[in-house]
Amino acid sequence: MARVQLLLATLLASLLLVSAEPLKLAVKAHRRPTPYALSKRDSVIVPVGNNAINYFANVTVGDQTFNLLVDTGSANTWIGANRTFVPKPGAVNTHQTFEITYGSGYVNGTQWVDSVTIAGLTVANQSIGIAGYEEGYGYQGIDGILGLGGIIQTNRTVTGTELVPTWMNNLYAQGAIEDEVLGVYFSPLKRGEAYAINGELTIGGIDSLRYIGNLTYVPTAQRDGRVSSWVVRIDAVTANGQALGKGGYGAVIDTGATNIYVPVDAYFPWLELAGGEWDQTYFLSKFAQKPNGTFGFTIGGSSFELTPEQYLVPEDQYHVWNLPEGVYWSFISTAGPTSFFIGQKFIENIYTVYDTTNLRMGFAPARHSLKDEPEDGVYQ
Ligand SMILES: *[C@@H]1O[C@H](CO)[C@@H](O)[C@H](O)[C@H]1NC(C)=O
Ligand SMILES: *[C@@H]1O[C@H](CO)[C@@H](O)[C@H](O)[C@H]1NC(C)=O
Ligand SMILES: *[C@@H]1O[C@H](CO)[C@@H](O)[C@H](O)[C@H]1NC(C)=O
Ligand SMILES: *[C@@H]1O[C@H](CO)[C@@H](O)[C@H](O)[C@H]1NC(C)=O
Ligand SMILES: *[C@@H]1O[C@H](CO)[C@@H](O)[C@H](O)[C@H]1NC(C)=O
Ligand SMILES: *[C@@H]1O[C@H](CO)[C@@H](O)[C@H](O)[C@H]1NC(C)=O
Ligand SMILES: *[C@@H]1O[C@H](CO)[C@@H](O)[C@H](O)[C@H]1NC(C)=O
Repeated sequence: MARVQLLLATLLASLLLVSAEPLKLAVKAHRRPTPYALSKRDSVIVPVGNNAINYFANVTVGDQTFNLLVDTGSANTWIGANRTFVPKPGAVNTHQTFEITYGSGYVNGTQWVDSVTIAGLTVANQSIGIAGYEEGYGYQGIDGILGLGGIIQTNRTVTGTELVPTWMNNLYAQGAIEDEVLGVYFSPLKRGEAYAINGELTIGGIDSLRYIGNLTYVPTAQRDGRVSSWVVRIDAVTANGQALGKGGYGAVIDTGATNIYVPVDAYFPWLELAGGEWDQTYFLSKFAQKPNGTFGFTIGGSSFELTPEQYLVPEDQYHVWNLPEGVYWSFISTAGPTSFFIGQKFIENIYTVYDTTNLRMGFAPARHSLKDEPEDGVYQ
């Protein structure tokens, strides 16, 4: 796979508005497109931006480029929340309507078919939503969502249609990539950064430079040979290597969620061990004393644990969520007895692979510093 230049972090002043819940982000093209019909492509790396709440990619629809949330937790792609879509010849209005409700937003509108390009990879006839009405996205400068979830999640989101093939489904179907695989590398912001293009999506493969050791693969939720959603079995929730709760959960691996929400039967025992309390104003965990234990998951027999530095909100980011100072806050929280979402703060430390071809997901500790990476963060 060819490495391409990652853009240097640029500071974005705005965007950091209060968000009770995770949203979603997007990608950017960085390699000159070559006609995909000629031959299958190696995997392509797409840089993604991180504003502490979400990850974003540049996605081109027709000739307009949109800032979309990168979301493995949902499967529909839609635009038009902030920047208005201006249809060009070739764009087709299907006159169907779509409607999607998210954990932290809502959208409805009209379904169109148009070309959708990411990093030079083009799907000619992609079914996409054009927002008519939305809540939770546009005001933050987010144009919509790049849906990287399982096709079954699109069921009945568009009138008169059962399933809507995703952009990845179509890219693979038209032969642009050899394997329908997505590799996700995210990384935490450095102290003082409000925004950085510091992550990457690998379309059609995995970036072996971005993880340590071997990937642990586990089956994903499926229906009739298709990915239902990126839900995998979590054998155990662990604190200092000790299992908490009943174990054997299904969790969504969700790049569109900021936090980590674990079921109550594991969450409250962890809080007690770590000496914290559940704060129902901010829906986060709060600690008077800095916790010192690890927290993590056993997946496919491998253990993935986060250190306090990885699961605590960095103090320079408290303003992003309007968090009071003088206490410690953690990205780990709960959303009820059965909700289990593993979001960005885990994915920033664990490389994740979304393998539709083999109906499985892969996990390995992320590698944040490359041997050949220059100090300025730009690598070849
Ligand atoms: C998206 O494209 C704009 C314009 O080229 C660029 O400034 C920005 O950094 C890109 N964002 C990402 C996440 O690649
Ligand atoms: C979208 O939602 C808004 C607000 O609920 C509603 O007024 C509108 O009729 C809906 N449009 C469609 C196409 O469902
Ligand atoms: C896209 O759709 C148009 C109109 O239905 C069709 O003529 C064209 O062949 C399609 N292109 C691809 C690559 O599927
Ligand atoms: C677009 O996003 C900016 C913030 O980046 C916001 O100020 C503006 O109101 C948004 N516009 C729309 C139409 O949502
Ligand atoms: C779509 O949803 C309907 C209603 O819940 C269900 O009967 C159908 O089996 C679903 N289709 C697929 C492909 O999952
Ligand atoms: C990775 O897998 C290979 C082949 O199974 C094995 O030889 C190697 O020891 C493994 N490496 C690690 C770090 O587990
Ligand atoms: C970890 O925190 C607990 C509870 O606050 C404390 O009793 C223990 O001494 C701490 N351990 C270390 C190694 O700091």
